[in-house]
Amino acid sequence: MPLKIVRNDITKMAVDGIVNAANGSLLGGGGVDGCIHAAAGPMLLEECRTLGGCETGDAKITKGYNLPAKYVIHTVGPIWYGGNSGEKEKLQSCYKRSLSLALENECKTVAFPLISSGVYGYPKKEAIEVAVETIKEFLLENEIKVYLVLFDNYSFEICKEQFQELLDV
Ligand code: AR6
Repeated sequence: MPLKIVRNDITKMAVDGIVNAANGSLLGGGGVDGCIHAAAGPMLLEECRTLGGCETGDAKITKGYNLPAKYVIHTVGPIWYGGNSGEKEKLQSCYKRSLSLALENECKTVAFPLISSGVYGYPKKEAIEVAVETIKEFLLENEIKVYLVLFDNYSFEICKEQFQELLDV
């Protein structure tokens, strides 16, 4: 299966593209967004200023600047409002749009953080399930190597129980 779950800081991933869990302004923030901007350097923000923001569920691509990754794919996850506000569909769309952009830009390897599962409050277990299901479905029809990069121990423990076969440790 060309999907692996790893525990790492996504800014350290030497892949063609890393995905950023951004907000609609694309002008930076906390969490993984803050880490990516800090590691990529100020040129990333300069390029982001030219993009005109991004809708929830959509994605836009920039260069990776000082990161080991060639590209950053910025996607905007849904804020969790309890699960009846189209959160799942929007989250699925983040993964699909990001993967499509990666392919269009000839990425052979791409790494995702667990979109929406931090500041945006999507429950981690459900966020992992949506990520794995959506990526797997995309991989049935497309050729690309995908890493799901977990940062915190709690997320990783959930994966150990639920997706043992995907762990790459
Ligand atoms: N590498 C991998 N994963 C990380 C890293 C890292 N360096 N740092 C945090 N995570 P969040 P969201 C995990 O809050 O929920 C920002 O301010 C973290 O453990 O970064 O989509 C944006 O600008 C969590 O599981 O993103 C938006 O305003 C996951 O990344 C807002 O937060 C996502 O947490 C987006 O919120």
